[in-house]
Amino acid sequence: KRPITIPDIHSKYAKGVPITMCTAYDYITATWAQRAHSDMILVGDSLAMTSLGYPSTTTISLQEFQYHVKSVCRSQGTSLIVADMPFGSFEKSIPYAIGNAIDMMKLDENVTSVKLEVGLHTKDHYTPQLIKELSARGIPVMGHIGLTPQRAHSLGGFKVQANKDMNDVKELLETAKLLQSVGCWSMVLECVPHKVATWIQSQLRIPVIGIGAGNGTAGQVLVVSDLLGMLGTSVPKFVKQYESLEEKAVKAIEDYRTGVAEKTFPENSIHTFKIKEEQWQDFL
Ligand code: KIV
Ligand code: NA
Repeated sequence: KRPITIPDIHSKYAKGVPITMCTAYDYITATWAQRAHSDMILVGDSLAMTSLGYPSTTTISLQEFQYHVKSVCRSQGTSLIVADMPFGSFEKSIPYAIGNAIDMMKLDENVTSVKLEVGLHTKDHYTPQLIKELSARGIPVMGHIGLTPQRAHSLGGFKVQANKDMNDVKELLETAKLLQSVGCWSMVLECVPHKVATWIQSQLRIPVIGIGAGNGTAGQVLVVSDLLGMLGTSVPKFVKQYESLEEKAVKAIEDYRTGVAEKTFPENSIHTFKIKEEQWQDFL
């Protein structure tokens, strides 16, 4: 089957069919998402924290991130792959950002879009201009508004957005409309009240992919390690953990360690290779 395209996602949205997206970090997690038929895979820079152990997403380098994008792209399947532009890869200047976005697209044929975190339209004139330039050059851009982890320091931490001041709600809508007008083909909306997210989606022509934004958006995205419980650390309130892989993995490695310590693994009748008995006797 051919890979899912941006028009395929738009037609799902037009038909009111929910769009599914899941992050992946590497060949293994991407293969799982492909086999589960996720419409889209996001190589999210959250991997800095959830897969590489960095305290935030701001310190990962573009080169480190690209290594993960390439690994995800080696997975087989039809999921549309979107790659985040990590912090520092697009803020310096428009030409620098365009160069890095082109490099991202050139990493692999299956990178179909980049994703850019965007600030509120009154404060961030730069990113919408950049999105216009990228779209004009045939580089599809997914926007990302609401809680934008790369801007956590200026937002004062990881907080719900547009949940107190109605001016913030208006400004978020204006930002979303601006992204649509400069060429975004879709956008992530993170961590806002579900009424706000549903309302914003209703005012747009392009699909909104929500995370912590309720069920009124065109689609949903979750971080793979959160949904699978790959790390024992606490997850945000908006995550549903469908599995506890860490518990299972630790238990399995413990069983293996015990097996080795008690000499119940390996079993020579199962986990090893034979040599002909007479040959062995002759040798001895
Ligand atoms: O980096 C990431 O995983 C993301 C999603 C949470 C949307 O940006
Ligand atoms: Na991200």
